[in-house]
Amino acid sequence: VTTGCGQGSDEVESNKAEGPTKEKPMILKFSHVNTPDHPKGVAAQRFADLVYERSGGRIKIEVYPSSQLYDDLHSVEALQAGNIHFIAPYSGKLTGYAPAFQLLQFPFLFPTPEDFYRFSDGELGQRLLDKLENIGLKGLAYWDNGFMQLINSKRPIRTVEDFKGLKFRIPGGKITEAQYKLFGASAITLPFSEVYAALQQGTVDGLENTFTNIETMKFYEVTKYLTISNHSYLGYIVITNKDWWEGLPDDIRTILADALQEVSQWQREKARESEHASLEKLKQTKLEIIELSPEERAKMREAVLPLYEEFEDVVGKELLEDVIKMVQ
Ligand code: LMR
Repeated sequence: VTTGCGQGSDEVESNKAEGPTKEKPMILKFSHVNTPDHPKGVAAQRFADLVYERSGGRIKIEVYPSSQLYDDLHSVEALQAGNIHFIAPYSGKLTGYAPAFQLLQFPFLFPTPEDFYRFSDGELGQRLLDKLENIGLKGLAYWDNGFMQLINSKRPIRTVEDFKGLKFRIPGGKITEAQYKLFGASAITLPFSEVYAALQQGTVDGLENTFTNIETMKFYEVTKYLTISNHSYLGYIVITNKDWWEGLPDDIRTILADALQEVSQWQREKARESEHASLEKLKQTKLEIIELSPEERAKMREAVLPLYEEFEDVVGKELLEDVIKMVQ
């Protein structure tokens, strides 16, 4: 026995005996909805590559991009069932399972990406991740995408009044739905993979998403106006199955956790680079780009302030207040 920790050494030994080898690797599945060249896609692949290398080929993570395997909601269920091992959905997709995750959907909550990083790197971010444990999941890391912008096919959005009567696709969550009501618009929830067709067919007039998502999913082909609003933050939660994770042999869990931590830092750089590069690419398309004036942005912010009171109990008043204090 070489574990040196006394307890559980028999179990560790037997795990070692039956553990994965290069010839018979442990195969793990990482499912996500974005393209392989997206900052989430490249990070998932880098995570897989590092783990393969550092485990000497004993752990092989297969990355399934572009909703190939599951859309976000089905991926949560598949993870709970143990059919896949890692997912990285937008926090707004978790709201049906763990309502506190709507925290990140409050518009105008994080003024800059750095504020989001301070949240996600600190005790508050951990407090939110811990809420996944009730549903058998474990939040391992936050990944990044950037600020939400607005696109639509009907009219340039320059003021709050311009939202009137428009129908927006949302990724899910009551706060975002209520946000569009306050704007005088309506909202329907659709999976990411159905958005292009919904825009093309006019099922929806528009949506909110990041420069990177609008560009990598080619939404610019099927819409007309882009308003730079930077109104909400699109953060991802890398999640695994709690029981599976805790049941892993220590050496394997350490390889996975260390690689993930390293990749999560790198992922931020990729997200920032991609945000800039995607905006530059979008400027080359036929999209009409509207910069929201600071006055109109302030009015938009004012219009959605009632959400903070309406939804404070859903996300937890204390957590919300602590985050607001942190970003002030
Ligand atoms: C969406 O569904 O709009 C996005 O959250 C998808 C994603 O993961 O980037």
